[in-house]
Amino acid sequence: MSEKLEFGMVGLGVMGNAMSLNLADHGYSVAGLATSEDKAKAFTALGKSVKGFSDTKGFVESIRKPRPIMMLVPAGKPVDDVIAELKPLLEEDDLLIDGGNSYFKDTDRRAKDLESIKMGFFGMGVSGGQEGARYGPSMMPGGIERLWDRVKPILEKVSAKSEDGAPCVALMGPGSSGHYVKMVHNGIEYAIMEATAEIYDVYKRGLGKSNDEIGKIFASWDERELKSFLVEITADVLQYVDPKINKNLVDLISDKAKQKGTGKWTSQDAMDLGVPVPSIDISVSARELSGYQDERKQLSGIYKATAVNSIDLKVENLLHDALYMAMIISYTQGFSQLRIASADYSYDLKLEVVAKIWRAGCIIRSAFLQQIMDAFKKNNSLHNLLMDAEVSKTVLKLQGSLRSVVGYMAASGLPCPMLSASLAYFDAMRSEHLPTNLIQAQRDFFGAHTYERTDMPGVFHTQWTSKS
Ligand code: 6PG
Repeated sequence: MSEKLEFGMVGLGVMGNAMSLNLADHGYSVAGLATSEDKAKAFTALGKSVKGFSDTKGFVESIRKPRPIMMLVPAGKPVDDVIAELKPLLEEDDLLIDGGNSYFKDTDRRAKDLESIKMGFFGMGVSGGQEGARYGPSMMPGGIERLWDRVKPILEKVSAKSEDGAPCVALMGPGSSGHYVKMVHNGIEYAIMEATAEIYDVYKRGLGKSNDEIGKIFASWDERELKSFLVEITADVLQYVDPKINKNLVDLISDKAKQKGTGKWTSQDAMDLGVPVPSIDISVSARELSGYQDERKQLSGIYKATAVNSIDLKVENLLHDALYMAMIISYTQGFSQLRIASADYSYDLKLEVVAKIWRAGCIIRSAFLQQIMDAFKKNNSLHNLLMDAEVSKTVLKLQGSLRSVVGYMAASGLPCPMLSASLAYFDAMRSEHLPTNLIQAQRDFFGAHTYERTDMPGVFHTQWTSKS
């Protein structure tokens, strides 16, 4: 290959390899930077239009200028290390794309640093795992608009396509907007995963159904309004039998759930912005709680669950509708966070576009995203998804089911942190009056923090007792 290659890839793990082959399938030649000569050879052996390099200089020089280079390396220090290695070799207008799950504040720092030497930098969320990277991910780039046109045709080609043929990639906005959108995507991902796990628990421990039966139920839901990647894979996971031992694998998997941090960052930033996202918060906590296995074991001996449920869960669609409602609430909270973040961080996000590029390729893809897209198309500054006329019609039909399922789980001693937090969010958001007037009075009582009144304007403090 004597002519220059069209695209550079750093990080030749499963994601880097898959994305390189995806690019090659669409006619692009790819230079890959490997960590050893052997790995470079293995990369070259992957296909005709890919070539591996183990020396950084040779890799950079092999790419046609201005160079588009994507990094698919673990978030954190590895990203800074790659940038430090490439920076002296890159030139003005070269474009470095960080396709990992980087923390958005790191992305802002890196963009500022590279833009000061006139190099382009995009922080890009990539969703869909290995399969997505290979055959079409959903991608959320953020950065300078002028540079977007250069990579747009390439990324559009390799991206997932929604049912109407639209590519699942679009410039989200400036700076760290792409990584921010991906972070919130993952927060929603945590919430929907926790909701599916809780519904599985109702079937498994509550109703004593077999994995196979539950798997089939989830598979049937994937044919209806709940059609989504996470429901689809839940059906597959539950029905999977380990061929060596002829048993359902899911039963043999430790219940300690791990995480890499993106869900936690979503919650942390929501707290900083003052946006309530309790379904996401509790889903992060639920994974943390699952790690306290010894304590759980001890406490399960002291507090045995006593079933006192009286609710008939056989009512058709009850669990389906409860999961659907919890899913809608998860999206609602995520999109609220994006709206507030967009204003606070000057991202100028088009929420319709976010929903549009999440319709295929990504982990939280679902049929419902079309409704979300339509809602924000009508009104980009819609304050809460639950206010949309079409969404509210759906929610009004579903809310009773979520209430019944939470009631059943509470009465049965089955933990339902996500489902109950979602119901609580819904009930609080639809309450014209909340009991927080009492909190204001208490604050004023012990700390003279003052309060406002409903019957007259102004700020007040009361001497609540003769002692205070
Ligand atoms: C995606 C996923 C992907 C990854 C998460 C998992 O959109 O393709 O979100 O980015 O699976 O990082 O995160 P946890 O390890 O924190 O569950």
